[in-house]
Amino acid sequence: MAPNWYRLGPVEELKTKPLRQVVIEGRLVIALSYKDGRFGAVSGVCNHKGGPLGEGTLREDFIVCPWHHWMFHRETGEARPGIPAAVPRHDLKTEAGALYVDLEPATPRIDAPHPPHPVAREPRRAPGPLRVAGLSTTAMHAGFPRYSTSEALLGLALGEAAAAGAETKMIRVRELGFRTCEGYYSKSAQACTWPCSITQMDAKDEMTEIYEALVHWADVALVATPIRWGNASALYFKMIERLNCVQNQITLHDNVLIRNKVAGFIITGGQDNVQAVAGGMLMFFGELGFQFPQFPFVAHSRGWSAEDMENNVMQVQQDGELHEGARALARRCLAMAEGLAAEGEGRAAIERGGRKAGGE
Ligand code: FES
Repeated sequence: MAPNWYRLGPVEELKTKPLRQVVIEGRLVIALSYKDGRFGAVSGVCNHKGGPLGEGTLREDFIVCPWHHWMFHRETGEARPGIPAAVPRHDLKTEAGALYVDLEPATPRIDAPHPPHPVAREPRRAPGPLRVAGLSTTAMHAGFPRYSTSEALLGLALGEAAAAGAETKMIRVRELGFRTCEGYYSKSAQACTWPCSITQMDAKDEMTEIYEALVHWADVALVATPIRWGNASALYFKMIERLNCVQNQITLHDNVLIRNKVAGFIITGGQDNVQAVAGGMLMFFGELGFQFPQFPFVAHSRGWSAEDMENNVMQVQQDGELHEGARALARRCLAMAEGLAAEGEGRAAIERGGRKAGGE
């Protein structure tokens, strides 16, 4: 095809920035670079999710996408060696002190074959009995475990669910190695992806276990947290920030990943603020798509001035009413999950898969 030259501007002026994003006539986007005395022009639209390559950074001769750090050679458009991918390259020429770019790409865009991440599959309830995932978000040293009041109550709730015929799974979030949310959403709404970009790029990131449990496996999520300075635990917040991508699928793409699922909460603290912690958890899990039974949390606190934590632990260990409260929460969640399943395709699957869990 004949070249279609477009005047970008004076050469001397364009030499002043190592990398810039140029939008031509509102449609073609070029990442224009200048380094070691040579210009380079490649498409400014990243192969991954369309990130603005010209707003990224240069690492040697590679442009690093500002969204999730994919890299393309600034002159050839090729991805790093070994990755069969490329963004289109554009020819350049100088004439009478001005730089021109050929609007027709000299090379095609090549997408590397990426099999979809397993967690990206469509959520579909597999046949089987009701399933309850317990997420304990308290932190403790693996080598020197301690008694956790929230985790102990969660254990009772899961035991009750198992006795009612449900499959159960305890996930101790502290045992998972996963990275903090890197705030891609703050760069652009489109930069927050499902599955999370970290999950897709880092095979060692174990947030996958939580995504699998909440999006695909469980009918009920029971989430337990201690109160730390009036809030849920830091580990809880680390986890829910990584769940932003699930919620953003709803707001950005009307893609509701969590349907007909129930959540309940266990909140314990030597000191107070139960209502605020419960309010935050209800809001977030509601925004994910979970539904709640009547009385959706069980909590324990002895108030602001209770500093005798050794007595607090003893009290939780001996408080039969509290133990029954945790068990009753599990029963309410299961009863509601069974009702929700009855509204959807899940009922047949539950009945085929095992005996039904009893409600309260
Ligand atoms: S790395 Fe460029 S959009 Fe994700």
